[in-house]
Order: sequence, then C-alpha cells, then structure tokens
Amino acid sequence: MPHSEGMRGKGFVDAIRVEGGYPVEGSITVEGAKNSALKLMAATLLAPGASTLTNVPNISDVHVMGKVLKRLGAAIDVVDEHTLVIDTEPVASWVTPYELVAQMRASTAVLGPLIARFGKAVVAMPGGCNIGARKIDMHLAGLSALGVAFDITHGNIHASAPDGLHGAEVNLEFASVGATENLLMAAVLADGVTTIENAAREPEICDLANMLNEMGGQVTGAGTPTIAVEGVDELHPVDHEVVGDRIEAGTFLAAGALMGGPVEVKGFDPEHLGLVLKKYEAMGMEVERRNGPDRASRGAVISREGPIRPLDIQTLPFPGFPTDMQAQTLVLLSVADGACVVTENVFESRFMLAAELARMGANLSIDGHHAIVRGVERLSGAPVTAPDLRGGAALVMAGLAADGYTVVSNVHHIDRGYEGFVPKLKSLGAHIERLNV
Ligand code: UD1
Repeated sequence: MPHSEGMRGKGFVDAIRVEGGYPVEGSITVEGAKNSALKLMAATLLAPGASTLTNVPNISDVHVMGKVLKRLGAAIDVVDEHTLVIDTEPVASWVTPYELVAQMRASTAVLGPLIARFGKAVVAMPGGCNIGARKIDMHLAGLSALGVAFDITHGNIHASAPDGLHGAEVNLEFASVGATENLLMAAVLADGVTTIENAAREPEICDLANMLNEMGGQVTGAGTPTIAVEGVDELHPVDHEVVGDRIEAGTFLAAGALMGGPVEVKGFDPEHLGLVLKKYEAMGMEVERRNGPDRASRGAVISREGPIRPLDIQTLPFPGFPTDMQAQTLVLLSVADGACVVTENVFESRFMLAAELARMGANLSIDGHHAIVRGVERLSGAPVTAPDLRGGAALVMAGLAADGYTVVSNVHHIDRGYEGFVPKLKSLGAHIERLNV
C-alpha cells in the first residue's frame, strides 16, 4: 500500500509544530471520503472479481482496511496513489482477527459482506474506543432479523446464517451509520425484501448504495430514513469513484474561517456540509457554494472579516450538524465574541479536546455532553496532545491562530483520516512542519 505522511517507529517524533498568526488563504482540493472508501472496500467482497475504486484517500485507515481484505485472501493492486483494484475472487477466509479490528474499528464493516458471501463470519469484537463505548449491538440485532445467529466467545463474534439470509423489517433505535451499512451489505444478497427504518442518511450511505446498485443490487431510498433492499442472487464487480470528503473539506473551511481566509476547498459537494455552512454563516463567515458538473468544480469558498459570533451547536446524525465537525467548530467558538453551548449527541466522551484547548488558553467547561464555551480574545501556543482524529486536526487549527509555537503530539491520529494534512496547510500559507528525527 502507499505510504501516508506519518511513520511510527523507534526514534520517530509523532508531532506537528505550528507557528501561529500567519494568514491562511488559497485553494486546496480534498480527497475521497475516508468513511465512504472504507465501506466501499468492504463491499467489494460481495462481488467476486476485480473492482476498481478511484479517488481513494491515501490514509492509514485505508491501509488497515487493505490489510483486512488481504488477510481474507483478496489481491490489491495499487494502480496509483488514489486508485485500487481489489480482486476478491480468491477470498477464501471469513475471519478478521483482533489485531486488525483493534487497529481500526471500522474493520467490522466486513461482517455484513462476509455473511452475505459465505453464510458465516468471524470478526473480533471491537474494544473500547477513545470517543465512547461505540457498541455494535444494533449491527447484531439487525443482522439477527435477517437470519444470522451470533455466538460471542473469546472476544470474537461468530456469525452464521445456515439457512441463508432472508429479508426483514429492521427498525434502528438510532440512525447508526455503521449498522445501516452492515445491514445494507447483508440485505443486498438476502432472499426477499429488507426495509431499514430510521436508517442513517449520511452522504457516505448514498455512496455505498450507489455502488451496490452499480454492482447489480436493488437498493432504493438511500438518503432517506427508509431504505428498501430487494435481494438479488449475485453482484458483479464495478469501477466506482469515492465521494469527496465533506469532513476533510469542513476542516479546511474551518481553518479558513478561523484565520479569515479566503480559503477555497474543491472536490466535495457543498450540500453535504449543508448545516455546517449555514451555521458558519450565522457565526459571521461569508460562504460561496460551488455546484459544478464534476467533482473538481464543486466546493466552497469561505472568508471572514468581522469577529466570530457565538452560536449554540448540537451534533446529530445527518442532515444534522456532524459530530465529526464538532472539534473544529469548538476551536472557532473558543475565540468567538461571547459564550455559547456545544452539545454532543452522537458520541459520549467526545470533549477530550477541551482539556488540551484549555492548555492553550481556551475557556471551556464540560458538563456531561455539553461544553460551555466562553470566547477568549486569543489562544497561546503550547505543547498539546491529539486525543483522536478530529480532535488532533482541531488542535493544529488552534495552533494556526495561537501566539507562538504549538506542538501537537500523537498526530498518527491525524494520519488515519487526512492525506497530506501538513503540505495542504503549508500550501495555504501556514507555518507548519512535521517534526522528524
Ligand atoms: C461513523 C463514522 C464516524 C462518525 C459516525 C457518526 C466511519 C468509519 N465512522 O461511525 O466518523 O463520527 O459515523 O456520523 O464511518 N451505537 C450503538 N450501537 C450500535 C451502533 C452505534 O450504541 O450498534 C452508538 C455509538 O456508540 C455512537 C452512536 O451510536 O454513540 C453513533 O454511531 P454510528 O453512527 O454507528 O457511528 P460509526 O458507524 O461507528
């Protein structure tokens, strides 16, 4: 697999240093969406043969999913940095061990496809995670309704559907992205019709449904709360382009908003950031949306002249405000002209960034799933530690605005989801470097 920016090893300093206070302006193009690419890679298991995925981000999470597929027996040809040909014809194993699931929780996306293809799967139970418990009970309940029996022993989920998968009506308790995806990928080859009520509506769900339909599946309603899947006997390999990464785009737009911009971000559909962009406008940013005919001509430009206005935000499943944009927005609000409340409704324990931001002078108090943010005039550079992927990116952003130097350590988290984070920020004028020894 191609290399990401970061390499961990003995003697390697896992950190990014930013010198704050310099303008951030210009144009960048985002990659394909991490959260889509991982599931599309898993979906190739459903159609024995060689599928081609383009616009795949070159990030460490994609490398881990590559390892998962190879472990199952797939052959992966890296045609260029963003194009993978995945041949799932030789896949002959249905076992995904803990060492891979522990590296990346999203490895569990192979559960649905493996059951659909082999009638069985063994996937390690994901452990705890630094953004909350992140259970998979809804995945298992939904798949049970389709005829799957589960036996959880020695930390592994043993799934089997000896009589095959059959369509069913599944009502999700919460519009879980991962559960919707696992169900879709199982239902597409089940016998009969499956309806998923309270399905997740994220753009990445639509991307997956589109790919399944290109493979010969019969999925309707993706992007709405009710998805219907009429099972087919078999699927065929396809060529598919990964949808642009709305969260990578949102992160760079947030950086532009923080520093004033203008920053143009190309390669994503601005409707996928609908509520984020509306909220940013209400916070005093100017946003120009670009809806061109192709990926390269779609995007948005952001700029800001006046102060950042405080605004209450609450995260919710799509089309609500994405939890994956909460940390970056917290940074903006921490230098806003007043106080507001940020409420996290999707994940528990997702305010670990707050303690690090406080080290940089932010005034935040956390009360359960609420953060009370009192805007301060300026942040001051400090050594901080990335708590997770989005929190890490947000701390680098904070460093752009802070006085002096900020050194963010544990930035392998950032490598999981951002390709070329440092070079992209550098191209926008940031004084930033990856520390190497
Ligand atoms: C995906 C994204 C992640 C994003 C999240 C919400 C990937 C690889 N990750 O994560 O970046 O932040 O959607 O948009 O695509 N839950 C249960 N039981 C379940 C499933 C979920 O209790 O069976 C809970 C989780 O603990 C969490 C909430 O539901 O609190 C949302 O989870 P879910 O939508 O499933 O997120 P992921 O698919 O894990």
